[in-house]
This record gives sequence, structure tokens and C-alpha cells, in this order.
Amino acid sequence: MLDWTDPHYRYMARQITRHTWLYTEMVNAGAIVYGDPDRFLHRNECENPVALQLGGSEPELLAKASAKATEYGYDEINLNCGCPSPRVQKGAFGACLMNEVELVSNCLNAMQDAAPDCAVTIKHRIGLDKQTEYEPLAEFVGTLRDKTPCRTFIVHARNAWLDGLSPKENRDIPPLRYDYVYRLKNEFPDLEILINGGVKTNEEIAEHLHHVDGVMVGREAYHNPMIMQHWDSLFYGDTQPEITYEALVQRLYEYAQIQLAAGRGSILRHMVRHYLGIMHGLNGARVWRHILSDAEQLKPNRPELILEAWEHVARSLKD
Ligand SMILES: Cc1cc2nc3c(=O)[nH]c(=O)nc-3n(C[C@H](O)[C@H](O)[C@H](O)COP(=O)(O)O)c2cc1C
Repeated sequence: MLDWTDPHYRYMARQITRHTWLYTEMVNAGAIVYGDPDRFLHRNECENPVALQLGGSEPELLAKASAKATEYGYDEINLNCGCPSPRVQKGAFGACLMNEVELVSNCLNAMQDAAPDCAVTIKHRIGLDKQTEYEPLAEFVGTLRDKTPCRTFIVHARNAWLDGLSPKENRDIPPLRYDYVYRLKNEFPDLEILINGGVKTNEEIAEHLHHVDGVMVGREAYHNPMIMQHWDSLFYGDTQPEITYEALVQRLYEYAQIQLAAGRGSILRHMVRHYLGIMHGLNGARVWRHILSDAEQLKPNRPELILEAWEHVARSLKD
């Protein structure tokens, strides 16, 4: 998720869950090819399994970006065909690619040829604008199954309305049609179908898993990251103990120390902005958020601020 799932967020997420696949922000293929690849592809060693999401619609450019990405150890490269933002539409990629299945097919093939050891996958919507029938969606998926090696489809279960809705509205207003995604899995049982959109609880995840192969959780995993605390045991059969709040805070503190010492331009705020939701639902959540978003307290870049904020939470948990 743009601006959200950067390496700092992914580091935190990986401390909470060992098995869940993590996804980068969408990175424009051109930025990797013509810009500084390190800036866009840098990641922490511990992040795997991790997928890089690319935005673009030029097969050659996507191929070059994919080849570069393999040098950075990503496990999967995902093509974005779901983003409705006007900026992305201008570049003729994102959700509007759902109208261009031949081009998408060329893109996926070029990406796979350039990154033969990486899974190449796609994320898309169930339709565009006011088109609400199931058949065009099935045709899109079926064509890609026949013409490309892509076997994993992450389906955001609502349309993208390209005209008149902001990206934020496009995540809330077009109605969710989970039944369309379930139907895809029924009709294409050989494909790995993952569902996305509006999932907020572990009960909902478990229910979706009766119908599809996986669930992508976006906003809830950001605003309430400790929802991921139980995923290894609930969904991956891992019997190792789950991380405690205290242990997580300690690891984030140590991570901040290392990042700040590395001198790569990271400041404390870049990290802790992703930590604001950690204490979601606990007594003391408010004071945690307050301290870690206070510009004055953040300015000196003292990683100890994380421990001090936690002390307030720990105290209110005891009260
Ligand atoms: C701030 C923000 C940035 C996002 N950026 C991306 C992105 O880069 N690529 C993408 O495929 N989806 C992106 N999305 C959409 C989410 O991946 C997801 O499809 C959408 O939020 C619905 O899932 P949710 O209800 O679990 O959040 C973004 C969402 C948000 C809130």
C-alpha cells in the first residue's frame, strides 16, 4: 500500500507474523529502470516471504524492472491492475488495464521471462465502472490463465469506478461482491485465488478460507497490526509462541537504533508513524499514539522514545 507498506512497516509486520506474505507499495517500473533501484527495491533481510508490486503497462519496462527485482531477493512480483488513481490512469496502468487483457498478458509473460524463478502474480478488481456482470471478470481471468504462466490472482472484490471517485472512495463505495471471487475459485479450481476488500477480523478471514485460497488484508493490518499476532497459529499451523507487546516494542526499539545509526537518512518519525496502531484496543493506546506522533518529542530522534511510550501503556495495563 502506497506510503504505508515501506520497509519500516514490513519489518514490524514480520516481527508479528513469520509466515504471512508481505507486499511492498506499488512501485512504478520506470522508477526502477530509470531511477535509483536501491531506493525503490531496498528491503530488510528478514522480510521474506515478500512480494514486490509493480505498476506499469509496458512489457519491456516491466521486464527490466522484474529482472532488477530478482537481484533483491523478492519471492513474488505482482502486477497492479487495481489502482484507480487518476495519476495511474494517465500512465494507462492500474485498474484501467482490466480493459486490455492482451496487453496484460504480454506484461505478465515479459515479467515471468525476465524473472523465471519468481512467482509472477496479478492484483485486480472485479470490474470497471458500472459494468457489474460476472462474465467479463471470468473472461479476464480465463484469458490470463490460458495465455500466461500467472497462477495467482488477488482479487479486490469491488469495481473500480474510474470516473468521479477518488482512490479513497474507490476503496469504500463500490459494493463488495465476495460471491464473484468465490465463483472464480469454483470455476478455475487450478488457480490460486485470493480475496481482498473490507476484511477486518480473524473470523472473517477464516470464513473466506472456506471458499478461496487466501485473504489479503490491507487497512486493518495497518491500523491494527496486532491482528497479525494470531495468524501464524490460526492459519499456518505454527505452534511457536506469539510475540508479546513488550517483546515487539523491544525489537522495534533495537531496529530504530540500527536504522538511525546506519545514516541512510531515516529519522524516527519515518518508523514510528507505522507503529501508532500497535496498541489498538488497549488501555493506553491513546497516550502511545500521542507520544509517537508528537513532533517535538520526535525531533531529537531518540529511539528511547519508543520505550518511554511503552512504559505509559504498560503502566495503564497494570492500573
Ligand atoms: C493508503 C493506501 C494505499 C494503497 N496502495 C495500494 C497499492 O500500492 N497497491 C495496491 O494494489 N493496492 C493499494 N491499496 C489498496 C489495498 O491494497 C486494498 O486493495 C484495499 O485497501 C482494500 O482492502 P482492505 O479493505 O483490506 O484495506 C492501498 C490502500 C490504501 C488505504
